[in-house]
Amino acid sequence: MLASKRILLIIGGGIAAFKSLDLIRRLRERGADVTPVLTRAGGAFVTPLSVSALAGEKLHSDLFDLTAEAEMGHIELSRSADLIVVAPATADLMAKMAHGLADDLASTLLLATDTRVLIAPAMNVRMWQHPATQRNIATLKSDGILFSGPNDGDMACGEHGPGRMSEPLEIVTAIEAALANGPLSGKRILVTSGPTHEPIDPVRYIANRSSGAQGTALARALSALGAEVIFVTGPAEVPPPKGVEVRAVKTAQEMLEAVKAALPVDAAVFAAAVADWRMTEPARNKMKKSKSGLKQLDFTENPDILATVAHMNKGRPPLVVGFAAETDDVVRNAINKRKRKGCDWIVANDVNPATGIMGGSHNDIVLITHDGTEDWPRMSKTQVAAQLADRIAQALG
Ligand code: CTP
Repeated sequence: MLASKRILLIIGGGIAAFKSLDLIRRLRERGADVTPVLTRAGGAFVTPLSVSALAGEKLHSDLFDLTAEAEMGHIELSRSADLIVVAPATADLMAKMAHGLADDLASTLLLATDTRVLIAPAMNVRMWQHPATQRNIATLKSDGILFSGPNDGDMACGEHGPGRMSEPLEIVTAIEAALANGPLSGKRILVTSGPTHEPIDPVRYIANRSSGAQGTALARALSALGAEVIFVTGPAEVPPPKGVEVRAVKTAQEMLEAVKAALPVDAAVFAAAVADWRMTEPARNKMKKSKSGLKQLDFTENPDILATVAHMNKGRPPLVVGFAAETDDVVRNAINKRKRKGCDWIVANDVNPATGIMGGSHNDIVLITHDGTEDWPRMSKTQVAAQLADRIAQALG
C-alpha cells in the first residue's frame, strides 16, 4: 500500500502520456498523494485540466511561475516527495537527466532533488537502441536512478521492439518496491568514504588516490535496502548518493568528530582511505621556495577512526566493518589488521597498482570474519556493495 506516500509525477512528452492518467488514478486508489508536473511536450498529449483533476492537486508546469514559487519553491517541491516518478521518460528527458541540464521545471526538479527517482522510459525502438541513449541509461543507472521497463511490443509508430512504456500497474509495483520497507529499514548505518586532505599550508595538502567509489556504492546499496545511512565523506571524486545524510569533512580529525557525532548506529562501515599522517603544524601562510631547499616537514599520526570506534567500551556499534587496502600478502595482513583494529569484519582488497583497483570500477575482495576468510570473485564495486549490504542485512536481521 502507498498510504500517505507523496509521489511527484513528472509527465514527459510522448504518446504514452495517456497511460500516466491511469497511473495517477491507480496511485490515488492506493492512498498515495500525487503532485503532477507536466512538461511542455507532455502538454501536447494530455491536458493540464485532466491531469490536475485526476490528481486532485495543483499542476506544476512552469519554472518561472511566481505564484507557485511563493507558495512552494521548486527546490522544496523537488524534495518534499517520497519518490519522484518520471512517466513517460522520453529520450530527451533522460539525456537531460544524464547530463545535468536544467532548462525547464521538470529537469530543474530532477537536478535539484535529493529524493530517489524512478523512471518509466517510452520511446521509439531505434531511439532506445541508439548508443547515445544507451550511454545515458548506463549513466542514470550508475547514478542510482530506478527503472520500470521499457517493455517489448508494438509501438504507436508501427515498429516493434523495446521502448513501450510499462503498463500503469507495472509502474505501481515498481513504486511499491521502491518505497517498501527493506530488510534494513529502521537500522541506522554509518559509512565513511573518500580520502582525507591534510593541509601542509593554505594551498597544499596531502591526499591519496581514493575516489570514494566503493564507499558511495555501499551507502547507496544500504539505503536501497531501507537503512538510514549517515555518510561521512572526505573530498571524494564521485558525488554522494541521493537519499543519504551527507556529512562532508576534509581531514581525519574532522572525520573522527563527525563519526562520533553520528553514534549510536547499528553498524558502522569504514570505507574511507584516511591519511595516516598529518602535518604537526600546517603553515599559516603559503610556504615559499628558499635557497636552503625544502624545509623539514614534521608529521603527527592521525587518530585511527576505525580502531577508536571498534574499541569503544560504551556505545560500540554491534557490527563494525573495516576495509584493508593492501599491496602484498593481502590475507595475512588483513587478518592481523582485523585483530589489531578490533573490528568484526575486514573487507580486504589488493590495491597494488598492477590491479587497477584503486580509482577503478572493479574490486577483488576477501572478506575476513571471525569464521574465517571468503574469497569473492572479481566484480564491480556496485556488485561488491550490493553483496556486502546483503551480508550486513543478514547480520543485523
Ligand atoms: N582507518 C581509519 N582511520 C585511520 C586509518 C584507517 O578509520 N586513521 C580505517 C580505514 O577506513 C579502513 C581501515 O582502517 O577501514 C584500514 O585502512 P588501511 O589504510 O588499510 O590501514 P592502515 O590503518 O593504514 O594500516 P597499515 O598502514 O598498516 O596498512
